[in-house]
Parts: sequence; structure tokens; C-alpha cells
Amino acid sequence: MTSGISVLVTGGAGFIGSHACKALKSAGYVPVTFDNLSTGHARSVKFGPLVQGDVRDADAVVAALRDHDVRAIIHFAASAYVGESMRNPGLYYDNNLGGMIGLLKGAKTAGVDKIVFSSSCATYGIPAQLPISEDCAQDPINPYGRTKLICEMVLRDHAAAHGLRFAALRYFNAAGADLDGIGHLP
Ligand SMILES: NC(=O)c1ccc[n+]([C@@H]2O[C@H](COP(=O)([O-])OP(=O)(O)OC[C@H]3O[C@@H](n4cnc5c(N)ncnc54)[C@H](O)[C@@H]3O)[C@@H](O)[C@H]2O)c1
Repeated sequence: MTSGISVLVTGGAGFIGSHACKALKSAGYVPVTFDNLSTGHARSVKFGPLVQGDVRDADAVVAALRDHDVRAIIHFAASAYVGESMRNPGLYYDNNLGGMIGLLKGAKTAGVDKIVFSSSCATYGIPAQLPISEDCAQDPINPYGRTKLICEMVLRDHAAAHGLRFAALRYFNAAGADLDGIGHLP
């Protein structure tokens, strides 16, 4: 029974997050978008409430989780451009790793123990075999991929220490538009 269960979608105002909110809503969940609107758009948030906040701010995460009685988190909020990460790695370590730390602190305080993490195929780097299987060695070749791999390690450590349950999705480039007018917006 999914009816009315709230799921926090960090980065829910972005390209992939807004599509995840649409899918959650049609599956009977309440998608609660948590987004600082740095690259996302408030007008993409059509399927549940928008909480404007930054995942690096653990107190703001706690408030959103409690206010909306959230049971699980899908974590999309991140900086997500390989080229930019090579020019400005500090931004990527701060936002992606700092975001994961803030989110996990908030989740632990609020007692939310289920997280789906939007990782990336970039954690594999140049694969030793094709097609790439899930158990291929992860050896990223840019700061963006390294932040995602480190976030996976952080999750694994928190799972071992605190009983957190998580999945990391290492998907490839997403593309496409949606008739609801969400996704890549000018
Ligand atoms: N686009 C792809 O093909 C692809 C492939 C694999 C993985 N991913 C991952 O999926 C996620 C979403 O990617 P996207 O293409 O939708 O990017 P996007 O830029 O459209 O979405 C990211 C969202 O996160 C928000 N955000 C960023 N930093 C934040 C912070 N500190 N606090 C709160 N909100 C913050 C942005 O405002 C934006 O709405 C990212 O984690 C990305 O690494 C993307």
C-alpha cells in the first residue's frame, strides 16, 4: 500500500528528479521535492510540494523530513557536469559530497533509514569490459565520477554502522522531453 506515503526527492526540480516525482505520484506516493533551485526550476515541481533548501544544510533536511512525515529518500541533488567538475573540482566535492553528508546527518536525526542514491556510470571510468556489468571495477577518471564513487562508499559505511538501507543507481545519460513540460527547461 503506497497511498499517501511521502518520499523526499532531493533535486526534484531538476531534469531526472522531476520525472521521478511524476512516476512516484502515479504510483500513489507523495513526492516532496527538496531543491535549492540552483539548476532546477520551481515550475517543474508539479506532482507534490516544493521545499526550497540545500542538502548540505542538515537542519533544513530534518525539518523537511519531519514536516512531511517522510519515509524514504531519493537523492538526485548534485552538480552533474563532467567538464565543469574538471575546471572546478572544489564545487563538486563541496556540493556532491557535502550534500551527501548533510543529507545523511538529517536522515539519521529524523529516523529515515531508506535512501536511493542517484550515482552514475561515471564511477566506472574506462571499463575493462563491454557491456559494463554492475560488478566491473569502479575507477572514475574525473572529479564528478569520483564524488559519486565516494558517496557510494559513504553510504556503505553508514549502512554498516547505522543499519541504513540504500541502493545506488549507476545509470547512463538520460534524455528526452515530457508532455507535462518538465525536464530540460530553458
Ligand atoms: N542527466 C544524466 O544523464 C544523469 C546520468 C546519471 C546520473 N545522473 C545524476 O542524476 C542526478 C540529477 O541529474 P539531472 O541531469 O537531473 O541534473 P539537474 O541539474 O537537472 O538536477 C539537479 C537538481 O539538484 C538541485 N540541486 C543541486 N545541488 C543542490 C543542493 N546542494 N541542494 C538542493 N538541491 C540541489 C538542482 O537545483 C537541480 O534541480 C544527479 O545526481 C546526476 O549526477 C544524471
